[in-house]
Amino acid sequence: MQTVHTIADLRAALSGRGHPAFVPTMGNLHEGHLGLVRQARSLGDITVASIFVNRLQFLPHEDFDSYPRTLEQDAELLRAHGCDLLFAPREADLYPEPQTYKVQPDPQLADMLEGHFRPGFFTGVCTVVLKLLSCVFAGSPGVAVFGAKDYQQLMVVRAMARQFALPVEIVAGQTCRAGDGLALSSRNGYLSEAERAQAVQLYAALRGLADAALAPGADLPALEQRALDTLRAQGWQPDYLTVRQRSDLQPPTALQAGTLVALGAARLGGTRLIDNIEF
Ligand code: PAF
Repeated sequence: MQTVHTIADLRAALSGRGHPAFVPTMGNLHEGHLGLVRQARSLGDITVASIFVNRLQFLPHEDFDSYPRTLEQDAELLRAHGCDLLFAPREADLYPEPQTYKVQPDPQLADMLEGHFRPGFFTGVCTVVLKLLSCVFAGSPGVAVFGAKDYQQLMVVRAMARQFALPVEIVAGQTCRAGDGLALSSRNGYLSEAERAQAVQLYAALRGLADAALAPGADLPALEQRALDTLRAQGWQPDYLTVRQRSDLQPPTALQAGTLVALGAARLGGTRLIDNIEF
């Protein structure tokens, strides 16, 4: 596996190598990311991963400074899992001048849920993703894999790629879960031992909400409120626990199995976790 830091070196390394299959990450890789890399390997001629902790998608009070940076260990994992090329730009490589041109995603999709609780988050995500895609896919079209755990992010990025006619297909990567059901995330590393034992309660709350939403005569607002109250009683501070239509993330017009997703974000101690279940 080759590691490059600059855009020029990335493009030189990709030249003549066929269609890239790309996995963008912020590093501190776990089995969830490695699953995306495994998936990407069958989708292109050359498997490319990026590691870049993107300042633009963190609010001032969030964990940009403390976000785990484990480049050497990550590179070793990527090599062992068959990645061909790692793009690990320094901030000055990707943002050599202040990034004053930014992507404003559709507020209908991006200003609710995560975007409501983290204003500006999807502008930061779309800006860096557009830039990364334009670095990787300048020579040849291909595929990029985004984890479905970040459900709204996947939808926002997919809509951006479609609207800008980017030469890249956005593919969903399945959420990887620990034995108890907790979705793998780099932020799980912030949890204390006691919090880690409790962390599956978010998934359990979403599971319970999804099951109850399909029962005949379900009153969705009441079920969502009950799920929030249950999580609060367990010591969490939830931002949202809600059922939406998969097609556009709007509140459902009908509670029909196979068209819905339960999404949640909640803070346990100082750690904010998100998860979702399609049903
Ligand atoms: O999901 C992530 O890790 C990040 O939001 C992404 C897509 C790599 C952009 O920084």
